[in-house]
Amino acid sequence: SPSLVIAVDGPAASGKGTIARGLARHYGLPHLDTGKLYRAVALSLLRWGGDPDSEFAALRACEDIANLMDDPELKSEMVGGIASRVSAYPAVRVALLERQREFAGSEQGAVLDGRDIGTVIAPDATAKLFVTAAIDERARRRHAELTTAGLPVHLEDILIDLKARDERDAGRDAAPLLMADDALLLDTSAMSPAEALAEAIRLVETRL
Ligand code: C5P
Repeated sequence: SPSLVIAVDGPAASGKGTIARGLARHYGLPHLDTGKLYRAVALSLLRWGGDPDSEFAALRACEDIANLMDDPELKSEMVGGIASRVSAYPAVRVALLERQREFAGSEQGAVLDGRDIGTVIAPDATAKLFVTAAIDERARRRHAELTTAGLPVHLEDILIDLKARDERDAGRDAAPLLMADDALLLDTSAMSPAEALAEAIRLVETRL
């Protein structure tokens, strides 16, 4: 039988990362958080002082992300904001495409989460989830996450930031955040992480 490939897409702080990790554990599959790739490009740019407004600089930054994949600074809002800018460049998306496709094509199957997994990276995925949550709830979660990580920020700033990021991710020409026609919608607004994972498993099972 073909390998199990699960695509998990959705906006920032929707719960897609937690769900993707939980699904990977549940089904014993390798997991790729594709947002980390774009964050690593942003961090690489920041570290060498490259201009995020230059597509060429962003493309160069793609070349040395390998040693940044576990950097704690990847999680910061600053890096996330720049990631959402550089991810709009077609050259950057192309530079990161092959390794994502390869991961999705692995014989053992895979879970990938991001913005364009079900639409661009793995259009033939076994199951596609589109995870969302109300913007206030997403802001609250991101706020709690960052506070716990020792990066205090104002809730209002997070809200403004998330709205800007949503607009950029959905409004860009290159692989915008878009629910695939055959994706299953999962709104986690009123769910605990455990409830969201249980519902995600239930939805995936409908495609097996
Ligand atoms: O999911 P995360 O917040 O870590 O992603 C950071 C940024 O990377 C997003 O705002 C989005 O612009 C970009 N991204 C993307 N395509 C993906 C994953 C992330 O454009 N598959």
